[in-house]
Amino acid sequence: MTTILRIVSDCGGCFVMQESFLHRERQNTTMWFWLLVIMGFYFLFRWYWYRQILQNLTDKYVFITGCDSGFGNLLARQLDEQGLRVLAACLTQRGTEQLKEATSQRLQTVILDVTDSENVAAAASWVKQQVGDRGLWGLVNNAGISSPIAPNGWLTKNDFCKVLNVNLVGMIDVTLSLLPLIRKAKGRIVNVSSGAGRLSLTGGGYSISKYGVEAFSDSLRRELCSFGVKVCIIEPGAFKTHITDPKYFQETIKQIWSHLPEETKESYGKSSYDIYFKNMHSSVDVVSSKLSLVTDCMEHALTAVHPHTRYSAGWDVKLIYLPLSYLPTSLVDFLWSLVTVSLAKMLLKQDP
Ligand SMILES: NC(=O)c1ccc[n+]([C@@H]2O[C@H](COP(=O)([O-])OP(=O)(O)OC[C@H]3O[C@@H](n4cnc5c(N)ncnc54)[C@H](OP(=O)(O)O)[C@@H]3O)[C@@H](O)[C@H]2O)c1
Repeated sequence: MTTILRIVSDCGGCFVMQESFLHRERQNTTMWFWLLVIMGFYFLFRWYWYRQILQNLTDKYVFITGCDSGFGNLLARQLDEQGLRVLAACLTQRGTEQLKEATSQRLQTVILDVTDSENVAAAASWVKQQVGDRGLWGLVNNAGISSPIAPNGWLTKNDFCKVLNVNLVGMIDVTLSLLPLIRKAKGRIVNVSSGAGRLSLTGGGYSISKYGVEAFSDSLRRELCSFGVKVCIIEPGAFKTHITDPKYFQETIKQIWSHLPEETKESYGKSSYDIYFKNMHSSVDVVSSKLSLVTDCMEHALTAVHPHTRYSAGWDVKLIYLPLSYLPTSLVDFLWSLVTVSLAKMLLKQDP
């Protein structure tokens, strides 16, 4: 009798446990269901919020620097096709002629070297004439150079100034000269930075200039929001354009090495030159040729009702540069040293 009673009470216990287990399962399922519903609504709202495009795009003037080639050239053609009034600044006469041939009559060109302040002032008054009372809707600060990229100890002050003058000081000069026209239109400023503006992995002025672009853009955005002006930052990864041409990099590094004092060559070692030289060539494999990934971000920044503050374009920037930039510096230094050591071993094994 006692045994029967124990069995019955055990079964009852089991039943109660089963009941509470099922109850918890049901609670979990309900929780996951609502979590998915909330996330679904969030993404739906986000998609709807960011996909709204401005009206009257055909009335809007956009000034783009560095339109001879690369992103600037593609963006000028892309916006022209959308019907915007593109004012394209090229560094060379040849650049303006080629762009004019490929675009509509609406697109206007001007020659601009962003390092020449007189030229910048002349271009700004040309823009003022073009836009009249409407003001300037968009400024895309795209002009840039990358070379020389080399170990800092191989470079001179002038090597740094050369890059900083185009990528940072030139950008600031163009922006300040056009600011009254942009404020008038309550327009947009789109500054082209880089993944290298988040994480500095190579020597030379490039990364420094792009960190500067990030800082300038952040302070400008905070300052201009009360005027209704929006400032967006584009952070592309590595794309196939003139500034990533490995032949040009190799030529530059060769010249820099040949002019180094013997003492510097001995301290760094010939192998470090070989590694650098070969790396310039092998890095071309990871460069994307889909430039529209970048120009689509620029177009969104100019034409969306609600643009993003930062746009990252390219898998390398999304998966490597941005995540690493949030890690502790000592951890990034350690990971980077592992990468460079194994890269060096691999490159030194390759034929010259
Ligand atoms: N390609 C990439 O992987 C990458 C990655 C991150 C960020 N970016 C940035 O994207 C922007 C565009 O570069 P890109 O890749 O399209 O290279 P690109 O094809 O070389 O375009 C750069 C443009 O800037 C012009 N330029 C050079 N010096 C100038 C100066 N002093 N004044 C005015 N214009 C000048 C160049 O003219 P010329 O062609 O006549 O020299 C060219 O039209 C740059 O700011 C660059 O730093 C590029």
